Amino acid sequence: MRRKIAAGNWKMNGTAAARSEITALQAAHPDPRVDILICPPATAIAALSENAHPIHIGGQDCHVATHGAHTGDISAQMLVAAGADHVIVGHSERRTDHQETDALIAQKAQAAYAAGLKAIICIGESLAERENGSTLSVIDVQLAGALPDTATAQNTVVAYEPVWAIGTGKTPTLDQIAEVHAHIRARLRARFSDGENMSLLYGGSVKGSNAADIFAIPDVDGALVGGASLKADDFSPIISALENA
Ligand code: PGA
Repeated sequence: MRRKIAAGNWKMNGTAAARSEITALQAAHPDPRVDILICPPATAIAALSENAHPIHIGGQDCHVATHGAHTGDISAQMLVAAGADHVIVGHSERRTDHQETDALIAQKAQAAYAAGLKAIICIGESLAERENGSTLSVIDVQLAGALPDTATAQNTVVAYEPVWAIGTGKTPTLDQIAEVHAHIRARLRARFSDGENMSLLYGGSVKGSNAADIFAIPDVDGALVGGASLKADDFSPIISALENA
């Protein structure tokens, strides 16, 4: 059975003062039929993970090492100690802002596994790649490079996030999402013995008004949501759409 996941990526927004959003999600979804995950900035993980049940709390990135001389970085073990059970790796903003490569992202995923975290590994094409018809080959390179051989349905979630759809209000057509998800699923099945059961999320301008249509697409097991995850009032309808998908 694949896990269905509604994941919120708060990016560089929110502090411990955003507790009220977690509380509101708990009240709206006391017994959720899907996994609900919020990834706040690292500084808020410890505070927000306290009494967060049934909401899972995750990090947005981790370093490949467990500890050491890496100023400003945070290890997967530190995320666990703060109360996280997931970590996003390879988000397109990390790839762009911090020049992260597929090889580095695979190492980060392995660091996450070693700490006992589930890694949400992000992939997705740029607008130029979409327009020149190389989407599926870009996806293949990212899947091959960013997913470790040790990835399993237990430790890994794949998030397909077209870079041009992130934070832009633009989304691919439902057919385009279906095409890429079917392609990724075929690759996961071919490479991993339990690839059939790996959860595969769509991300990029998901909101309450388009969530149900996106969740009806085969091989879409949930969403990684940015802007519409910041407020429980916006995120809750997305969670409900996934529960009812
Ligand atoms: P968005 O971000 O929902 O604001 O487009 C998605 C993401 O970056 O994960």
